[in-house]
This record gives sequence, C-alpha cells and structure tokens, in this order.
Amino acid sequence: MGILFKNGTVVTSTTMYQADVRIQGEKITEVGQDLCIKDDQAVDVSGKYILPGAIDLHTHMSDPFGGTVSSDSEFTGTRAAACGGVTTVFDFAKQKKGMHLPEAVDIKKKAYENRACVDYALHCIVTDLMEDDQVLEEFADLVKDGVNTFKCYSVYKKEGIMVDNQQFAAILEQAGKVGGMATLHAEDAGVVDYLTEKYVKEGKLSPWYHYMSRPEWAAAQADISAIHMAMHLHAPLYIVHMDNKEGVEAAAKAKMEGYPVFVETCPQYLEFTSEVYKRADAVKFVISPAIKNEESREALWKALQTGVIDTVATDHCPFTTEEKNWGKDDFTKIPNGCGGIENRYPYLLSAAHDGRLTYERVVQVCAENPAKIFGCSEKGSIQVGKDADLVIYDPQMTVTGGPDIMHTACDHSIWDGYEYHGYPVQTYLRGKLIADHGIYIGQAGDGRFVKRSPLHV
Ligand code: URP
Ligand code: ZN
Ligand code: ZN
Repeated sequence: MGILFKNGTVVTSTTMYQADVRIQGEKITEVGQDLCIKDDQAVDVSGKYILPGAIDLHTHMSDPFGGTVSSDSEFTGTRAAACGGVTTVFDFAKQKKGMHLPEAVDIKKKAYENRACVDYALHCIVTDLMEDDQVLEEFADLVKDGVNTFKCYSVYKKEGIMVDNQQFAAILEQAGKVGGMATLHAEDAGVVDYLTEKYVKEGKLSPWYHYMSRPEWAAAQADISAIHMAMHLHAPLYIVHMDNKEGVEAAAKAKMEGYPVFVETCPQYLEFTSEVYKRADAVKFVISPAIKNEESREALWKALQTGVIDTVATDHCPFTTEEKNWGKDDFTKIPNGCGGIENRYPYLLSAAHDGRLTYERVVQVCAENPAKIFGCSEKGSIQVGKDADLVIYDPQMTVTGGPDIMHTACDHSIWDGYEYHGYPVQTYLRGKLIADHGIYIGQAGDGRFVKRSPLHV
C-alpha cells in the first residue's frame, strides 16, 4: 500500500504549485492534480507544503576533535536530523596519518551500520598522501565505491589534519581527474597561527581573540588562493562554510568566468556576527572559521539570494557546555564547533516565511543542489522516480527552539530560544514516516549508505 498526499503545495527549486503526491514503497510514483485514491492511505495535507527531505552536506558525528569527541553520535545526530527535516547526511571518513583511505571509509561506514536514522554519504578527509603520493592512487577506487569528495583542511596543524598547498594542489587535480572533487576548509594557517601566538603572548585570551586571530582576511586569503589554484589546475572545487565578503566575491568572479567553483555557507554565519564573542556565553560560538562582521554577513545573504552560494549545510559539530568552558579563560582550549543539524531547514524556511528568501531557493540550497552537485540524483526533489524523502511543512506553526524539544545529545545549542515561523512537522525517509510533530518514531538502522555517482562538474 502506498500513501497519497492530497491537496498540498509542492515546492521545487523553481516553483510552488498545488498538487497531490503518490508514493509507493521507497519511491515517488505520481505527482499531479486530483489524483484518485487507489490502494493508498490518503493523507490530507491541505494548507501544508510538501518539500524534499533536506540533505546536510557537512556534519561531524562522533568526531575526535579539540581534545574530545563531538557530542552527537551517528545515532543521536541522525535522529536530530530526522526531526529537522533532513533525510540524508554527509559525514566524514577521516584518514589518520599512515592509514589508507579505504580503511578510513570502512571505519566510518561501520560506525553508521545499524545506527543511522536517515541515509548517509561520506566525504573522505585526506591528511596524509604517504610516500610517493601513493594515496592519490586510491581516489579512483573510492569514486567507484561512491565516495567522490576529498576534504582538505588548510589549518589545524596541531590536530594533525592540515595539508599544505603542495598537497592540496595534488589532491585538487587528482580528484578532478577521477570524477571526484576536492572540498576545502579555507583559512590561512600562517596568518591564524601568527595572530594566535601574538594574542597568547600578550595575554589576550578571551573568546573575542578567537575572532581576532581568525579575522575576515585570514579566511579570504585562503579562499582566494584555493580558487586561484583550482582555476589554473582546471579542477572543480567546493569551499565549505564560506563566511566572508572577499571570499564570496572571489567565488562569484570565478563562477562568472565559468569555473566549477561551488560555495557552501552555514546558518551560523547568516544569523550571527562577531559581536557574539563579546557575550557572556561567547564560548558556545567558538567555531572555525570564526563568525565574521556585519559586512560579511550581509555579503553572504546577498550571495544566498542571488545564487552565488550553492548550498547551505550545518557543519554540525557540537560540544557540551562543560567542554566549551575548558577555554573560557583561554580561547585556544575551546573545542571548535557548534550544532545545528535540526535547525538549518527550519531556520531557512522561517527566513522564507518572513520574506528574506524564497521557499524555492531554500529547497534549492538544502536539497536539489546538494543532490546534483554531489552525485546523488535519486535524492533532493519531488519528482516521479526519486526517493520518497519528503517533509511536510506547516507554514502556520510557530516553534521556539530549546533543549527540551531538540534531539541532539548536546546539552545546549546556539539556536536555543530562536523563534521559527513555520515548521517541518513530518519527515518521511524513502516512504517511511520517521519523525512526527517533534517526535522521532523511526528506528536506528533505517538509514542506509548512499553510493554516489562520479561527478560531472
Ligand atoms: O569549528 C568547527 N567548524 N569545527 C568542526 C571542524 C571544522 O572545521 O569543520
Ligand atoms: Zn571546517
Ligand atoms: Zn566541518
């Protein structure tokens, strides 16, 4: 028996229209007006919107980082995802030094087995090319196995995960050659380390100096350099968590000239400014890159409205209040990261509700573009033949976020107290209802690995 959603408003990246949607098994089988009830359970969704399940391209579950491990596991993180209208998450398989990439991928896949509440895909974090760059030879097989994106960090030397420009150039080029793509956390390590050491020596250790040591120009310098390299190496590039005006401008220029440069931002950079680092609870906002000034925030909104930004993901990487407070008197000791997996779709949909963005654009940056750019064409839109990953959204509902209603395992969130106008009320994963009015009703293990296709960007 299938389900027939009657009288909803279907939202795609280009239009919104009144329609019924039929799903059978795991797929969408019919979209149209006045569909007749066959062997279906009919669900009246009058007054509600039918959206594609969101895809979160950037999450860190159980990630060892900053002297601890991020608070959400593969289970609790994907449970929170389900309740926030997310049906596919991308997480990272992190290569340890001396480890071959397939081993890193196997470890992360095992961590998801029987724990995933939504579907999951993997990016591979490359930290070590090993002797004679032998790790580059492993890219092609990974692409065949559905892991086609290779994440690099231009900072975090102390954590042992940084690559230098020589390594990054090799990764960019090789990824592009084999139907993959390099993705980059872009901050200039030299600038960040210089400024950090300077402020530490001067005894300037409050969270404000996290921002001062990771200013706009430190991120811009790395964005501009990476884009320049990608252009000259004829390689596709995806920059994660874009946060600054000059970086946005460089990406816009490259795009206009026809280069395959893709840009992601995150809600924390759209909502907050560096002023948060003066607040009493500043430690919660210590993330990297640091949240930037108002000028950058405005540039990000404009880029989001005009199409320069391709995707909005979360960089979900929460740490508990206790862990955050390790560094309240020394910003260098704060584990960097914040949560947001359950908040992103509601946040952007609320922005659409309030007229800052169109609903179509929200669907585009949270679902359609992620599926298209990252090679999972069965996901991300309400069309016949696609996976029945659906979200029913109630534009009339107002919800205020807080630890009592959110599903992260973390004890706090930078989004606590945020008032959402309109809210996702039901999430269907490949036809199965897994979240219903704020209650998770699926099962660990409902989610499965998404084997992505080689990229044609
Ligand atoms: O502060 C952050 N973003 N922590 C997670 C790791 C990263 O840089 O994406
Ligand atoms: Zn990052
Ligand atoms: Zn991240």
